[in-house]
Amino acid sequence: MNINITVTGAIFASGIAVSAWAHGGATGIVKERMDGMSTMGKAVKSLVPMMQGKIPLDSAQIRAAAQAIGQHSGDTLIKLFPKGSGDHPSKAKPAIWQDPRDFNALAEQLQTLAKGLEQAAGNPLMGQSSGGSMMGGGSNMMGSGTGMMGGSSAGMADLEQLAQMPVDGVYNMIAKTCSACHSRFRAE
Ligand code: HEC
Repeated sequence: MNINITVTGAIFASGIAVSAWAHGGATGIVKERMDGMSTMGKAVKSLVPMMQGKIPLDSAQIRAAAQAIGQHSGDTLIKLFPKGSGDHPSKAKPAIWQDPRDFNALAEQLQTLAKGLEQAAGNPLMGQSSGGSMMGGGSNMMGSGTGMMGGSSAGMADLEQLAQMPVDGVYNMIAKTCSACHSRFRAE
């Protein structure tokens, strides 16, 4: 009798340990934001082979990934980083709260780009043209794409512009926004 109780207790306890150890033992709001980040990570990764031109573009899948990123960025992301939530096991740097403007701007920029990707989901890759005249259409789009990328560091490309861009152009801007925030606000 006694033995049975002990065994059950041990199994129960180890179950708790396993779930608490995901994300280095994070709980509460820290775990919530890590989960959101992981979801975005999967969404971005799921698009890599398409963006590299290795498999055909699937606009429905691109749209779904864009929506997942959209749901976990912007104000939703910002609210998951309240002041004082940067202690171990979080990798969030104190810089987030010393001057939250840049952090918040990157979170908002990501959401705008996610909406842009949703709208650009049916567009071809850079250098591909929908009509078949590779040279003309492709290089024009590249031209405007590059121009917008250049401008995006100062101000954001607006949604209408993003919707016209090659789909991998918007995708690249998203990937850059993830790394821009991580390199400044996430510890190694
Ligand atoms: C506004 C800043 C910001 C943006 C934008 C951002 N992240 Fe993060 N990300 C963070 C911070 C800060 C952490 C560390 C959170 C913690 O440990 O508390 C993090 C953590 C992560 C993690 C690790 C989660 C874990 O389980 O520990 C992944 C994966 C991730 N981000 C993916 C992404 C992807 C993909 C994007 C872009 C689509 C993105 N992030 C955009 C700030 C950002």
